Amino acid sequence: MRNRGAANSEDKPVRVEVKDVCGDLPILETEWWVMADMSIREATSSDIQSLCRLYYEFHEFHARAVPERLITQGSLAALDDSELSTTLQTIIDDERAIILVAEVDGQKVGLVEAYIRHDEAHPLRRGYRYGHLQSLMVAKGCRGRGVGRRLIEAAEEWTKGHGAREMRLDTWEAAGDPVGFYEKVEYRTLRRTMVHVL
Ligand SMILES: CC(C)(COP(=O)(O)OP(=O)(O)OC[C@H]1O[C@@H](n2cnc3c(N)ncnc32)[C@H](O)[C@@H]1OP(=O)(O)O)[C@@H](O)C(=O)NCCC(=O)NCCS
Repeated sequence: MRNRGAANSEDKPVRVEVKDVCGDLPILETEWWVMADMSIREATSSDIQSLCRLYYEFHEFHARAVPERLITQGSLAALDDSELSTTLQTIIDDERAIILVAEVDGQKVGLVEAYIRHDEAHPLRRGYRYGHLQSLMVAKGCRGRGVGRRLIEAAEEWTKGHGAREMRLDTWEAAGDPVGFYEKVEYRTLRRTMVHVL
C-alpha cells in the first residue's frame, strides 16, 4: 500500500501496525489509509482463504472474552480451516445469507455475516421477517475508524432489500464487549439470556 495524506479533517489517516493480535496473526502491513480508501462488497469464493483469518480473529476475540464458554483454536498457523472454508462457501451460495467484506487496497479489514429469517405467525405471536446479524468483525488495528458502522449499515441495506423490517443479533456480555458500539448504532435490548451459576 502507498502512503496517503488526509483527504479532509474527517478522513484523518490512521497507522495500521503489524502486530500479533491473536498469537501469530498479522493483520495488515504497516501503512496509512483513510476512510475514503475503504470499500465494502459482497464476498465471493476467492475471498474464502483470507476471510478465514478474520473469522479466526473473531473467534479468538470471543474465546478470550468468555473462556468458560468458548475454546481457543490455538495458533493460526496450526489452524485446519477446511471445515470453515466449506461453511463459508455454503453461506456465499445461500441467497438468504450474505458475507460483506470491508477492504483497503485489497486487504480485508472487516466482515459482516447476516441472514434473512422469519418468525412464523401463530395465534399468540406476530409473524416477523428480520435480518439476523451473525458475525461482525473489524481487524484490531483498524477499529475506531467507522468500519464497523459502515459494515452494519451495509448489512441493514441488504436486509431491507429482502423485505425485512429489522435486524437482530445476539452478543456476549463481557469485558471489552461491543454493547456500547451497538447502542451507538441504535440497537436496543429486545430479550435477555440470564444465568445464575449454581
Ligand atoms: C465492535 C466492532 C465491530 C466495532 O467496529 P469499529 O470499526 O471499531 O466501530 P466504529 O469505528 O464504526 O464505531 C462506531 C461508533 O461506535 C463507537 N464504538 C465502537 N466500539 C465501541 C465500544 N466497544 N463501546 C462503545 N462505543 C463503541 C465509536 O466510538 C463510534 O462512535 P462515533 O460514531 O460517536 O464516533 C469492533 O470493535 C470489533 O470488531 N470488535 C471485536 C469483535 C466484536 O465484538 N464483534 C461484534 C460481535 S457480536
